Amino acid sequence: MGERIFGNGAGLAHRLIHRIGHHLGHSRHRGESGAGHKTEAGQQTGAGDESWNGDRYDRVSARLLRPLYRKVSSEVAAAAPSGATVLDVGAGTGRLLLSLTRRRPDLKLLGVDISPEMVRVATRNAQYSDVIIEQGDIRRLPHADNSVDFVISTLSMHHWESVRPAVAELARVLRPGGELWIYDFRFVSAQRLKDAVREEARFADRAVERVPVRIWRLPITPIVRFSLTASRPATLGNLVE
Ligand SMILES: C[S@@+](CC[C@H](N)C(=O)[O-])C[C@H]1O[C@@H](n2cnc3c(N)ncnc32)[C@H](O)[C@@H]1O
Repeated sequence: MGERIFGNGAGLAHRLIHRIGHHLGHSRHRGESGAGHKTEAGQQTGAGDESWNGDRYDRVSARLLRPLYRKVSSEVAAAAPSGATVLDVGAGTGRLLLSLTRRRPDLKLLGVDISPEMVRVATRNAQYSDVIIEQGDIRRLPHADNSVDFVISTLSMHHWESVRPAVAELARVLRPGGELWIYDFRFVSAQRLKDAVREEARFADRAVERVPVRIWRLPITPIVRFSLTASRPATLGNLVE
């Protein structure tokens, strides 16, 4: 059995998110070759575990999701220490990182995404910046242990097949005391994230905070932020004793 991605109102939430994803260029139907889809330039792409039309996503998200990128980048800009390394997982076409680099040029900004199509467009978008975006799966990140101060992610977690290996990787790359801030739809279940966090020594004594994020001036906000701080060595020592 797969993990339960959506919480209460699961059926409706699933349909809604599927519709939004479709509008944003996400496709569950693979091409005849079974590998990805055709880009607007007519190239067939292999899309890893995800099939995205990067150009379409970029065009639509640049308008629709700009308030989200602004909000998240202002929150992260206010919290990240000077010169911190920030990693965006499931970075899509890189718009959040570009918004963040404008606010905080001192930060070292990295992005990773499983979709080669998204990474192609992100690399084009980031060509005149210092933002580095690589292709990679959250279950096997191409980053060294303890190398990241701040992990952020927007609207990606509900695509992760399983949260446990993702959280294990995030615990590996985060420095002690580092921050993990995941933004996703409010319908996404917090339980599988909480369960995964409990399994990781670096996170085990940490509570996952769930905070509604107000954007788009809607009466009910559709986005929440799940956040937690990685333990520092003293806390880890207490756990072992
Ligand atoms: C809805 S898009 C969000 C993109 C971007 N964060 C934004 O807010 O515009 C979800 C992204 O998560 C990526 N993704 C899904 N599963 C992933 C995984 N296992 N590892 C890395 N990226 C993943 C997809 O390729 C896609 O780019």
